[in-house]
Amino acid sequence: MTVTSLDKTAELLQKIESRQARIGIVGMGYVGLPLALLFSDARFRVTGFDIDSRKVETLNGGGSYIVRIPGTEIQLARESGFTATADYAEIAAMDVIIICVPTPLNEYHEPDLSYVTGTVSSLAPHVHDGQLIVLESTTYPGTTEEVVVPLLEKGNPAGLRIARDASSSGFYVAFSPEREDPGNDTVARRDIPKVVGGCGPAARDLASAVYKTIFNRTVPVSSPATAEMTKLLENIYRCVNIALVNELKQLCMRMDIDLFEVIDAAKTKPFGFQAFYPGPGLGGHCIPIDPFYLSWKAKEFDFNTRFIELAGQINIGMPYFVVENIIEAMSQQGKALRGSRILILGLAYKRDIDDLRESPSLTIIELLQKRGAHVEYNDPFFPTVGHGRKYALNMTSTPLEKIPEFDCVVIVTDHSQYDFPAIVARAKLVVDTRNATRNIDAPNIVKC
Ligand SMILES: NC(=O)c1ccc[n+]([C@@H]2O[C@H](COP(=O)([O-])OP(=O)(O)OC[C@H]3O[C@@H](n4cnc5c(N)ncnc54)[C@H](O)[C@@H]3O)[C@@H](O)[C@H]2O)c1
Repeated sequence: MTVTSLDKTAELLQKIESRQARIGIVGMGYVGLPLALLFSDARFRVTGFDIDSRKVETLNGGGSYIVRIPGTEIQLARESGFTATADYAEIAAMDVIIICVPTPLNEYHEPDLSYVTGTVSSLAPHVHDGQLIVLESTTYPGTTEEVVVPLLEKGNPAGLRIARDASSSGFYVAFSPEREDPGNDTVARRDIPKVVGGCGPAARDLASAVYKTIFNRTVPVSSPATAEMTKLLENIYRCVNIALVNELKQLCMRMDIDLFEVIDAAKTKPFGFQAFYPGPGLGGHCIPIDPFYLSWKAKEFDFNTRFIELAGQINIGMPYFVVENIIEAMSQQGKALRGSRILILGLAYKRDIDDLRESPSLTIIELLQKRGAHVEYNDPFFPTVGHGRKYALNMTSTPLEKIPEFDCVVIVTDHSQYDFPAIVARAKLVVDTRNATRNIDAPNIVKC
């Protein structure tokens, strides 16, 4: 008796529902590792794949390299069968494979899909009939259909093809964006609805069934491109609104109006307004990058995404604006930037996280150094820093006791463990880019 594809779809569904399906997560980073732990917690046997052998060793040793994930969580998962490996041959033993690898921009601000294509090319030889492959990496609409599927088909030695419905043989492919907000503990991960778009209804339903085991709600959409675009819309919405308040902050400073007070008043409106806050510039692996995936793709359709470009210009300019304000604040005190000592508070791109990708602090440090300042930093999450944005910084975190030695302290990241009244009391001059000193009345504070 031959096994039909309908049987295979039903079999995978049954394996998912009974927690017998083996889950492989490729990319054990900020997205992939928490996801692996969620599936492990839901009683699945999970294997994490990563090309970084140090991560693999740390995980197999029951350790963690992400601050907000304690080693005890990894140890618990290990006891439930979680293992990590760099060996792609183990892909063959998986029923579901979820790809969470980076999608950065290259030096020309264009999508760099090399991690996705590298991963998919490595997977392809091991993919088998009835397996489900889901891409979670943020990317432009069309990536799953135009890049992932052809690579999987081309690289499969058995000539296996994608199954677009339950009656065809082959593997299933879907896209489901990660929507986590690092450092935001107000919404439990399970409560963030999971958008799922499949290459055909069978892939969509299977992917939806997988995610239903760890998320309270899934949101099936008609195609992977719709799911890809959904993620970009969400991040472009943030990027454009942050640019708007960053621009308004510059205007409000000239008009001597406190924009933070304005936002607090505006957000009392019970409809039609969502509060976004200005800052020293965008950071992280999402908001500064993802919108440009769409602008790049839009050019294929003779289309210019003007909002994205304008928001990008404003947000990219913010570290420069901060530096101008530091120079101005110091000159008000009769000091030149060149030769002065500046302490940057906070390297992470936002409060209470250990991620400095695209962090505006790095740009601000480099701009200040270029203008002849002697710059140091403090960040409880980063005892040392190697590479900056453009060159090696090789710096060590300066203890806060040394604050009185600096001509200016710049609050770039408002980590909650900072005692701002104590910082202000000991600093000669404080430039605050986060409104962290909102409740402190002191003459040495300059807000920007
Ligand atoms: N970090 C976030 O908050 C966040 C939120 C939503 C979406 N995303 C998206 O999720 C994706 C992953 O982001 P991240 O923050 O987890 O990145 P990350 O850099 O923290 O982790 C990626 C991991 O993939 C591994 N890797 C790279 N190439 C590989 C390969 N060929 N095979 C196996 N492993 C490989 C890396 O070693 C790394 O451990 C990106 O597309 C990002 O845009 C991230």
